[in-house]
Amino acid sequence: MEPLQPRVAIVGSGIIGCSWAMVFASGGFQVKLYDIVQEQVTKALEKISKQMKELEKTGMLKGSLKADQQLSLITGCTDLKEAIEGAIHIQECTPEDLELKKKIFGQLDLIVSNDVVLSSSTSCLLPSKLFTGLKHVNQCIVAHPVNPPYYVPLVELVPHPETDPCILEKTYALMKKIGQSPVKLIKEVDGFALNRLQYAVISEAWRLVGEGLISATDLDLVMTDGLGMRYACIGPLETMHLNAEGMLNYCDRYREGMIRVLKSFGPIPDFSGEIEQKINQAMCKETPADPEHLNARRRWRDEYLGRLAKLKKEIKSDGMNHL
Ligand SMILES: NC(=O)c1ccc[n+]([C@@H]2O[C@H](COP(=O)([O-])OP(=O)(O)OC[C@H]3O[C@@H](n4cnc5c(N)ncnc54)[C@H](O)[C@@H]3O)[C@@H](O)[C@H]2O)c1
Repeated sequence: MEPLQPRVAIVGSGIIGCSWAMVFASGGFQVKLYDIVQEQVTKALEKISKQMKELEKTGMLKGSLKADQQLSLITGCTDLKEAIEGAIHIQECTPEDLELKKKIFGQLDLIVSNDVVLSSSTSCLLPSKLFTGLKHVNQCIVAHPVNPPYYVPLVELVPHPETDPCILEKTYALMKKIGQSPVKLIKEVDGFALNRLQYAVISEAWRLVGEGLISATDLDLVMTDGLGMRYACIGPLETMHLNAEGMLNYCDRYREGMIRVLKSFGPIPDFSGEIEQKINQAMCKETPADPEHLNARRRWRDEYLGRLAKLKKEIKSDGMNHL
């Protein structure tokens, strides 16, 4: 008889919950997908099944198992106790609402064992707000994915000050095992790392377009055909290192210029009013903000990201050994 695969529980079967379920199943894990309403669970399972079959057809399915084998690993339920039974890891994916999440972690706190990992997908709620006061606080961690986690592998791991270091290591190893790319934050900070970087970029993009210095579509091109190409391969710090004769030489050469430009940055935008209208108009010209157009463009983005992820994987495994 085949040995039973380890089990994980996903709490909340929306966008992120479904994506996590697919990622865990691709790694061969048994997945219990929990939600409060049966109808939501049924819809989520149907959506996952459709997506996995399409991914298989286009050669984009993750993992070594076939779609049917992966699908047989995922089951749904509406009973929290049943959902977490035998799970080594619980990934919470409920709406971004502090009180709701605290309530759910409070319920889990009463029924979990002393060795399961309690992990939240929250985008911006700090572990100290989410987990303080729980009996099992030492088992809690934030594992923040990037949407869509099936194609973008980064996961930010953010511990609570009382999180047991071995929970961080366990979660790190688990993420690696399912093909994600975990990073560790040593201490919690508002916005974690990804959103702090993202908001810095959004802010300057907003100011440049707002001041009429560049069009909204050209601004996006600066990223997709410029910085983004580079950043899919090396990060901003390594860029500095390679764009001169090493980091120290880069700072020598560009320190003054960087500081001068940074000093010219304007105040934090309020993301409203005339500039908001102007940028909205530019965005809607390409993709009107109705569900049909937005979903079509999201499907295009996901396929693009899927192909990019595949290419990155191929390059990594090839190792570019000829160099
Ligand atoms: N969507 C993103 O881009 C993104 C990216 C990274 C992280 N996140 C985070 O992931 C989490 C989930 O986001 P989402 O976009 O999947 O939301 P969503 O609204 O698509 O899904 C939330 C799900 O939670 C369920 N739910 C509500 N109350 C519940 C309860 N008491 N118990 C169990 N399930 C319950 C809902 O029925 C729904 O299926 C949020 O914390 C969000 O910040 C989202």
